[in-house]
Amino acid sequence: MESNAGSNVIAFLHLCIVILFVNQVQATNSSGTFGGCPLSSLPHNPQHVYSYAGRPIESTKMDQIVPLDDIAMIRCRHVGLFKQNGGDTFNCTSEGWSGNVTCTDTNHVTNYTSESLPPAIVWHVAGGGVSVVAAGGQLVLLPGAIVHLDCLFPRLAGNPAWSWTPEYRRYPTGWSLSSSERDLHYRLSVYYARQHDSGTFTCTAPSALTNSITILVKELRCAELVVARSVPESALPAVVFGRRQTRGDDRVIVAGSGTTMGSSRFFTCFDGYVLNGPQQMTCLPSGLWSAAVPPACEVVRCPALPPLPPLVRLRHLSLTAGGVALFACPLSYALTAAPSIVCLTNGTWSAPVPHCKEVVCPAPESPEHGSVSTAALRRVGDVAVYSCDEAFVLQGPRIVTCTNAGTWSKPKPNCVISCQSPGNPRNGRVSPRLLRYRLEAQLLVSCSPGYRPAGPDRLKCLRTGKWSAPLPPCVPVIAG
Ligand SMILES: *[C@@H]1O[C@H](CO)[C@@H](O)[C@H](O)[C@H]1NC(C)=O
Ligand SMILES: *[C@@H]1O[C@H](CO)[C@@H](O)[C@H](O)[C@H]1NC(C)=O
Ligand SMILES: *[C@@H]1O[C@H](CO)[C@@H](O)[C@H](O)[C@H]1NC(C)=O
Ligand SMILES: *[C@@H]1O[C@H](CO)[C@@H](O)[C@H](O)[C@H]1NC(C)=O
Ligand SMILES: *[C@@H]1O[C@H](CO)[C@@H](O)[C@H](O)[C@H]1NC(C)=O
Repeated sequence: MESNAGSNVIAFLHLCIVILFVNQVQATNSSGTFGGCPLSSLPHNPQHVYSYAGRPIESTKMDQIVPLDDIAMIRCRHVGLFKQNGGDTFNCTSEGWSGNVTCTDTNHVTNYTSESLPPAIVWHVAGGGVSVVAAGGQLVLLPGAIVHLDCLFPRLAGNPAWSWTPEYRRYPTGWSLSSSERDLHYRLSVYYARQHDSGTFTCTAPSALTNSITILVKELRCAELVVARSVPESALPAVVFGRRQTRGDDRVIVAGSGTTMGSSRFFTCFDGYVLNGPQQMTCLPSGLWSAAVPPACEVVRCPALPPLPPLVRLRHLSLTAGGVALFACPLSYALTAAPSIVCLTNGTWSAPVPHCKEVVCPAPESPEHGSVSTAALRRVGDVAVYSCDEAFVLQGPRIVTCTNAGTWSKPKPNCVISCQSPGNPRNGRVSPRLLRYRLEAQLLVSCSPGYRPAGPDRLKCLRTGKWSAPLPPCVPVIAG
């Protein structure tokens, strides 16, 4: 069973407008014909908590008009810390709202020292029992609860006294025994509350100033709460990283159980869905759940995309949580960021829409002992042409092209040292016959018939730019 035990203040509402106490309110209709009393015209006071038709009025519509002779309930926000006078209702009369309820200060505003203010009363319910404050300020207990009412009064200034209206038993009273409380807490305890314990309990200070708490003991249940399209949280596997990753499931996850007064339900949705309605519902002393309509889970939607930047094309779009928007650019243009953005489970896009930027290749580097020339901008399809200094030859491509990826089609060539053609020997020739020979290139000397090379007939181009041997002359073959 959910419990509010230990909490002295159960605040269902937060009225934010601060106006001083108003005892009598008149809301007449200036046009003459009376049509009821609007809830919004109840006297505003931060200490007042209003209920209408069994529920705190903030969970109903504030613009609601209450019919003639109907009543709104009122209690002080901090029951016991304020003294409630003048009953617990405002009546809708033909003159407007009528009621004399006030919430006046107790000695809690002076840290319990003042003897000219009534004593404050705080309570706590022991051992997991349930207490809820009713719409009129009564403390409602389930049968069996143990409740301690503490009248706060400085012990040095004398002894207060408890009195009560229930007649069938006496209640133990006395200074609290705990060391932190025994100088201030004058206690009355109700053990194992029964219906007969319902009544008003009054603390009278030596100054004769009083404060009271009214207790109502009743077996109270709300109707079974039916939430459409829901799943009990206990039926789900444990959550690993704090979020439920079940896309496509719009069921409401319901935590909590029980239908006795004070029982609560807590509502959440699966990832990608958002709760429409209350996050929590509690069984009120009125026997009603705190909200009239349970919530539903609705799929999270991201806002429509802003107008696309120039040239950007949309290739795919899904506005629901987890969906993506996929973009593309025309040929020779590239996106400035990732091609897709995701609709996050909080309803925002993971990133802004990217732009299209013309693809350009980086300026190519000149090889050592060489140079390169390109167009100024180096767009897709543009070429870079390499050349080498005198006495060097290209090793690698002479021409490279700027590709769609913004890179050159081939790696940059090197300029390597070369050997000059040694020319042909008389009565012979070299092959291959070139102007310049690259490093490691070989050259074969062959002589005309009747002649032979006087030396090695294979020459190799060395790193020094020189041939491995001088060109051999072709000499006549002497017939043996
Ligand atoms: C006041 O009277 C007018 C005209 O009879 C009616 O339309 C309107 O609802 C009334 N307003 C309230 C607050 O009762
Ligand atoms: C409010 O109206 C009800 C019913 O008409 C009546 O019993 C009750 O005494 C009235 N309360 C006040 C504070 O006028
Ligand atoms: C408020 O108090 C006045 C004077 O004590 C009394 O005449 C009037 O009936 C009370 N009004 C209500 C609504 O109780
Ligand atoms: C209230 O009184 C207590 C006990 O005497 C003291 O510890 C605390 O500081 C006081 N607080 C204020 C705000 O005066
Ligand atoms: C949505 O979630 C993302 C990632 O978790 C976060 O960076 C962003 O700030 C959130 N936006 C809003 C409006 O909550």
